[in-house]
Amino acid sequence: MTAMSIHAVHPRRRLVPLVLLVLLLAAVGGCSRDPASEPRPSGPASEAPTTPDAGLAESVALADLGREIFFDTSLSNPPGQACASCHDPRWAFATPRDRMQAGMAPGADPSRLGMRNPPTLMYAAFSPPRHVDPVRGTLVGGLMHDQRADSLEDQALRPFFNPAEMANTSPAALVERLRRASYARRFDQLFGSGALSDPGSAMQRIAAAVAAYQRSEEFSPFSSKFDAVMEGRATFDASEARGYEAFRDRNRGNCVECHSLGDNRGRRALFTDFSSHNLGLPPNRESPFYRMPASINPDGASFIDLGVARDPQRAGMEGRFRVPTLRNVAVTSPYMHNGVFASLGEAVRFYTTGCVPGNPDRWAAPEVAAGRECRKVGRLKLTARDTADLVNFMYTLTDGWYDPATGLPGPMQVEPRPPIIGGAGQVASSQ
Ligand code: HEC
Ligand code: HEC
Repeated sequence: MTAMSIHAVHPRRRLVPLVLLVLLLAAVGGCSRDPASEPRPSGPASEAPTTPDAGLAESVALADLGREIFFDTSLSNPPGQACASCHDPRWAFATPRDRMQAGMAPGADPSRLGMRNPPTLMYAAFSPPRHVDPVRGTLVGGLMHDQRADSLEDQALRPFFNPAEMANTSPAALVERLRRASYARRFDQLFGSGALSDPGSAMQRIAAAVAAYQRSEEFSPFSSKFDAVMEGRATFDASEARGYEAFRDRNRGNCVECHSLGDNRGRRALFTDFSSHNLGLPPNRESPFYRMPASINPDGASFIDLGVARDPQRAGMEGRFRVPTLRNVAVTSPYMHNGVFASLGEAVRFYTTGCVPGNPDRWAAPEVAAGRECRKVGRLKLTARDTADLVNFMYTLTDGWYDPATGLPGPMQVEPRPPIIGGAGQVASSQ
């Protein structure tokens, strides 16, 4: 059993069903908005009630408390790491590049690293509850690269106890840290006095607050150049426009088959249908996870990430991972669950030649070959210009974009574009 699966069973068992949580919150102050409900892709922000009411104030207070927890570096063991250490708003709530080691982020104990690339948390609130699509036979929705968490609440407690992340050893230990926080009395204000006295119910309250924060507009601003173009406030340049075409063209990228635009003509598109697929990605041999001690990685150098099929009930789904949003993807390199690609161009190149006979680009063998979807992803008919256009199009998906005429810079860290090819996914060659 690996660190992730230890973590997966630990705090979750202590959670009462969400129904109870909702009742509990409703009892405290007549919360009109169900904090456990998943927002729909039309967006929670736009549909928030405009008239002030107690329920809304309550959910704002809950999200504010969640923000305090999210940025609090005193809640790890040893202290020093917060959710925001790996999910930094300046990096689209993914990990700052200079903290990463070959795609992996160090834990509170910096000698421990997990097995996957921390994803952006932006737009994660839109992932529907996990379910099997009966027509396509794929698992849809849920959270984490392998969809093992059902909801933001279900996910929220795991990092606190993951030995490669915040590494608390028990709910009681975490509550002890929270009691010393400057904002601790806000728990009593929201949930009634003694809100932190029982570790079990304290855990539910922490989960509710952290989840509410992640449903706030901070995580889903829909403020990219793409959004401005869809709303008629801006225009793509020629390359971006061609990239958008190739992205949608069935005979070229057909990226929309998985990175879908939704049914709103591109408006508020999430660039994922939340299904899972096996792209036949090479392993990231540079990942420090292979060198972790047996307590973190019992399989050592022979570790294979089965993705969705790490859950024994999902046999047959080996190598599948959830389709990520492409919003803010220019900010969040490296790419894929294992961080194997350093650049967007490399990812597109892999889609173009990954399955081409003779392996012209010398990709390393897939980590999980069975079930690889070569027909859809692996031999696309994309020219070098299409690749550059697709990359330029993906750069329009960065939030915080302002019309150059206003001169205002966006808040995100978009770096100069790295070279198209070259990274851990390829067999070393002299090219
Ligand atoms: C040490 C780095 C690290 C810390 C600290 C951390 N995370 Fe993460 N987070 C990750 C990684 C890695 C993943 C992907 C895990 C996987 O898929 O197996 C992830 C995944 C997630 C996801 C799933 C997103 C999605 O779209 O599926 C959410 C939500 C999340 N983290 C929230 C949090 C919260 C809340 C905290 C603080 C309580 C936190 N994380 C702390 C590294 C971190
Ligand atoms: C058959 C479904 C499918 C199609 C079609 C598809 N993708 Fe993906 N894409 C995925 C999946 C699944 C992942 C995540 C794989 C993983 O992490 O193991 C992904 C990941 C990515 C990533 C990395 C994102 C990140 O944050 O790590 C990029 C970039 C990307 N796709 C771009 C594209 C482009 C551009 C196209 C069209 C040329 C495309 N995809 C077509 C399923 C698809």
